[in-house]
Amino acid sequence: MTAAPLLEVRDLRVHFPTRDRRQTVKAVDGISFHVHAGETFGVIGESGSGKTTLGRALVSLVPPTSGAILHDGVDPASLDADARRAHGRDYQIIFQDSNAALNPRMRVLEAVLEPLRYATAGGLGADARRRALEALVRVGLTAEHGQRYPHQLSGGQKQRVTIARALMLRPRLIVCDEVVAALDLSIRGDVLNLFADLQREFGLTYVFITHDLSVVSHISDRIAVTYLGRFMELGPRASLTDRPLHPYTRALMSAEPLPLPSHLRTERRIRLEGEIPSPVAPPSGCRFRTRCAHAEPRCAAEEPAWRELRPGHFAACHFATAEGAPT
Ligand SMILES: Nc1ncnc2c1ncn2[C@@H]1O[C@H](COP(=O)(O)OP(=O)(O)OP(=O)(O)O)[C@@H](O)[C@H]1O
Ligand code: SF4
Ligand SMILES: [Mg+2]
Repeated sequence: MTAAPLLEVRDLRVHFPTRDRRQTVKAVDGISFHVHAGETFGVIGESGSGKTTLGRALVSLVPPTSGAILHDGVDPASLDADARRAHGRDYQIIFQDSNAALNPRMRVLEAVLEPLRYATAGGLGADARRRALEALVRVGLTAEHGQRYPHQLSGGQKQRVTIARALMLRPRLIVCDEVVAALDLSIRGDVLNLFADLQREFGLTYVFITHDLSVVSHISDRIAVTYLGRFMELGPRASLTDRPLHPYTRALMSAEPLPLPSHLRTERRIRLEGEIPSPVAPPSGCRFRTRCAHAEPRCAAEEPAWRELRPGHFAACHFATAEGAPT
């Protein structure tokens, strides 16, 4: 892929004041990456690692504290209000909780039309309704579902409605934040396949955020592993899941209840013990050191460099090599 990336993130930081306003929560604390058009970029990490904050920043729902986010080379913050509104249609986000995303008093078809109403500011004609119906059908629902209220749908159907709604604006990039986490295991595969089909059909680009390794490894071309607001590792899916470079990735994989690559299955399972430290005061040096079985004094003193150890495959660990994580 040689084209300019659709999304470029440069040393992004998103910090929040704590409730008493005396300290700073470093939710995202120095992240850089790019995503090409048509790619699915997976982001995985434990609860509190900054995934949702990153996703919200990518679609301009939260401003960067520092650093930059470029959409097809354009910084949305540099646009005036009208241009930003038009631009924003191309960059959508879908969240885990479809109940929160859907107004319980609004019929499904109206909910699907809603973003168009906002984006066009004018009345909506028959053409818009036809498109909303098409979007419902495209995600596997019917015109009859369009007449229902959200509480008359299953969890999977509600998530399909939020997908139809995002599609109405014909976006180029969709950030998917834990979009299958609330769904029954039995229908997760169907909804993930729907995302994959829509990607092929509309040439969509995804940033797929999840705490579930089986979800990212199902759908992603490349995967980034976050810990306390930073990336620990980023690489092509096969390279990362077959032979991870970072001890945190290995620990995450061994904590997975779902099938592992065969060579990991035969090893003693590494347990991911202890709480994730506070993003108010991340550990010095390597942020993962308080939970890392391989930590040495250097890990507290020196922040590990972001090194490309295999082609396109990076990690931040002093002792990782092209062969893999330290053992
Ligand atoms: N608006 C806010 N104000 C203050 N702190 C915030 C705000 N939003 C997020 N945080 C804090 O930033 C950190 C990262 O939160 P975030 O929701 O991005 O994590 P996450 O990786 O999405 O977690 P989860 O897997 O639980 O969804 C947390 O410590 C959270 O409490
Ligand atoms: S730098 Fe040290 S503490 Fe961090 S992951 Fe590598 S070995 Fe563990
Ligand atoms: Mg989240």
